[in-house]
Amino acid sequence: MYLSVFIIALISTLCQKNLVKAQDDNQHLTYSIKTEWNGEPIKHQPTNITISVNSEGSLTLDIEATFFNTTNPNAELVNEAHCPQRPTDHIYIYEVVEAFFLNDAGDYYQLELAPNGQYSNHLFSGYRDRLLFTLPMFGMEPVVENNCENSGIDKEEECVWTARVTIPREFLPKDVTKFNAAAIHNEFVEGERITRYEALYPTGEDVIEADFHYFEAFQEIDLTSIAFSTKTEPELWTQAKSEDQFITRDFKLTRSFDCLKEKSEDSIFHTERGEGHLKLNVSIINKSPFKANIPEALQASGTNEELFNDLYESAWVTFSNARGQSLRVGLNPYGTYQISLLSNGEIRKNIVLDEPLDCKPFEQLSWACQVEISNDLFPMNVTQFQMVHYHTPLFNETTNERDPENEIIATICPGTLEGAEREIDWVGCETENRLFVDDKTNAVVSQVWAELLTETTTVTDIPDTTESTETSQSSDGAGN
Ligand SMILES: *[C@@H]1O[C@H](CO)[C@@H](O)[C@H](O)[C@H]1NC(C)=O
Ligand SMILES: *[C@@H]1O[C@H](CO)[C@@H](O)[C@H](O)[C@H]1NC(C)=O
Ligand SMILES: *[C@@H]1O[C@H](CO)[C@@H](O)[C@H](O)[C@H]1NC(C)=O
Ligand SMILES: *[C@@H]1O[C@H](CO)[C@@H](O)[C@H](O)[C@H]1NC(C)=O
Ligand SMILES: *[C@@H]1O[C@H](CO)[C@@H](O)[C@H](O)[C@H]1NC(C)=O
Repeated sequence: MYLSVFIIALISTLCQKNLVKAQDDNQHLTYSIKTEWNGEPIKHQPTNITISVNSEGSLTLDIEATFFNTTNPNAELVNEAHCPQRPTDHIYIYEVVEAFFLNDAGDYYQLELAPNGQYSNHLFSGYRDRLLFTLPMFGMEPVVENNCENSGIDKEEECVWTARVTIPREFLPKDVTKFNAAAIHNEFVEGERITRYEALYPTGEDVIEADFHYFEAFQEIDLTSIAFSTKTEPELWTQAKSEDQFITRDFKLTRSFDCLKEKSEDSIFHTERGEGHLKLNVSIINKSPFKANIPEALQASGTNEELFNDLYESAWVTFSNARGQSLRVGLNPYGTYQISLLSNGEIRKNIVLDEPLDCKPFEQLSWACQVEISNDLFPMNVTQFQMVHYHTPLFNETTNERDPENEIIATICPGTLEGAEREIDWVGCETENRLFVDDKTNAVVSQVWAELLTETTTVTDIPDTTESTETSQSSDGAGN
């Protein structure tokens, strides 16, 4: 009796082991893009995408694609300092591989990845209806291996670039049922640029031009077959789809601004959209003390116009638009703040708040402050943002002097400016304004900015070239 129970238990254990092993062997889904968007066969090695689940339980895409050397020539970021590439919109007009995950309600996630590491993440709710776009993957950027650029592109033998992308769970909508993938590149035929749109599942004959968002072309995907579940709706989707879109985010600064220094501080910038304002809560846990450094003038709660001039322990957030206008918010552990409206790097106005900042009593190492930033202060149509933690440990005990080598400057969006090795990029990464502010409110010039711009007369106003470039970009890329 006992023996038979034991044997049954043993057999079932063995069976389970076999079952797990069998699953392990099949724990990936592989796709090859072999056709153009209209079903015509392609004339090069197919782009391959393998989907699996990594040891942390995240969905991972391994990509293999032929390199055509038609990536974005205007990749602005200087990458030589080991910084990862950034979220960038409109890369689909160059060379990219794309993946789409769709559910039955028409919610979908689109990934675009370029062979230079630039990437885009977009969430849509309904056909081409952008819910949130150009979402960042800070700290878990795609890893691209591309040695083609210097190897020479031999027409006989294609050079292949590879990439691994770990998709944050919150990007995937609830109950993914369908999938499609695409590859875009350009070719020069008799000097003329021709864009090739290739699709895993091509559209039928009823579609007359490339359209990767065409739901009918998508086919079933069963992510549970690789033990991945999308049963619950991520908070990001719920917030973005809700009427007031009161989106909350935690931004963890994990890299020094030039990606060269080890960073051990915890710097978390928590943002929370609210009624008419953005709540920003900065929470810092340093590994080394800073307090003795801070000059007395910067040890008082309230506004101080010197905060930015000589940077001591402090936290900064900037929101900028394509016209060179920005809002810069800086604060330190004592509740000293400087909130500035800038135009082309020049401060035009410093803002005085009605209330002092809300700061926790701080220790030698840790501090946290909270501020409400009124929507009026945002420049119109914010397109870029940056977050900076300036950590100035104690002065050198021997020399009693400030030691720049000892300072740690962390940014959410690392990368130094071209030609200025040590310069922090205060403008930062492309962003979706809806993460921070209501986009309808932000689509018009606020009263604060309107007053500022009339005060400073039209002579100093720079011509607005944004609109024309944006239009030309979005009218391109039929297939994106
Ligand atoms: C994609 O996979 C196929 C089959 O394994 C292979 O022949 C092809 O070379 C791969 N494509 C690339 C770009 O490596
Ligand atoms: C890639 O394109 C750039 C710019 O068009 C060119 O300078 C470079 O030689 C090309 N690289 C290869 C490997 O063909
Ligand atoms: C800011 O956030 C931290 C961590 O979430 C929290 O401990 C702190 O109370 C918050 N600060 C304020 C002033 O609300
Ligand atoms: C302090 O400065 C001296 C002289 O520049 C230098 O040798 C030493 O390493 C510094 N100490 C620290 C802790 O950085
Ligand atoms: C600002 O953004 C809105 C919404 O995206 C757009 O309709 C409008 O044209 C933009 N304005 C300018 C001047 O770019």
